[in-house]
Amino acid sequence: MLVGATPFIAAGYGLLYEQQNVEIVRQRVRLARLPKAFEGFQIAQLSDIHIGPFTTADYIRRCVAITNGLKPDLIALTGDYVCWDPEAQGEVVRVLAGLRAPHGVFGCMGNHEADLGIEESITRLFAAQGIQMLRQERAPIRQHNETLNLIGMDHGGEADRRLQQLKTLVMPNMVNILLTHYPHFFDHHSELGVDLTLAGDIHGGGQLSLDFVHRGLNLGSLMGVPYIRGLYEKTGAQLYMNRGIGITGFPIRLGARPEITVLELSRS
Ligand SMILES: [Fe+2]
Repeated sequence: MLVGATPFIAAGYGLLYEQQNVEIVRQRVRLARLPKAFEGFQIAQLSDIHIGPFTTADYIRRCVAITNGLKPDLIALTGDYVCWDPEAQGEVVRVLAGLRAPHGVFGCMGNHEADLGIEESITRLFAAQGIQMLRQERAPIRQHNETLNLIGMDHGGEADRRLQQLKTLVMPNMVNILLTHYPHFFDHHSELGVDLTLAGDIHGGGQLSLDFVHRGLNLGSLMGVPYIRGLYEKTGAQLYMNRGIGITGFPIRLGARPEITVLELSRS
């Protein structure tokens, strides 16, 4: 009976507990070219917010309070603010407007914003709250006399054009940090000079992961997605795949706890 009940107990756990049991992940990122002034600079990353029936405004508000309590220098949002309802954009922006960081709050678009055709409207709503969505744009982040180059790219669009746009946004003599919902061009980042990429999209393996039983046993990997969770490195370029805080599709997270990430930059 116990064996028979196991999947139901696991599903109940994922349904009732794990989906909102947010984990604070601290990730040190070593960047050899990092200017001295940015040693220890902390970027909090929130991804895949997905306000909707399973990810409530109250829960997101709690995530905002936790993030502010971590006192990051800058906050990065990596897309998917809504689920399927374009009407929800106003509320999610109002909740995220509570985020505070001395160097500002920046973000990029996700596939849900693209699919619903709300990229322009949600960008305007964010801008009214002082949150800057970077859409094929860059923003200089200054500390003392040093600068980091922060870039944001949309999720969709024609691949060749996006890659050309990305090339023009990279600054050769700076550390370049890219916000993108999914890292379509990660293979090229090293040659382009993108030092660090922050992304999400996969929800830690499709919200369903048995990686703790066997590595690679998660929905994302089984579907052939190469980047799932955590830090990746490819010929010097680094990528952080955030598991996100919200959910879509089915109201469950198993082996893929929601996360708020603090990336601490360091030269060594
Ligand atoms: Fe998502």
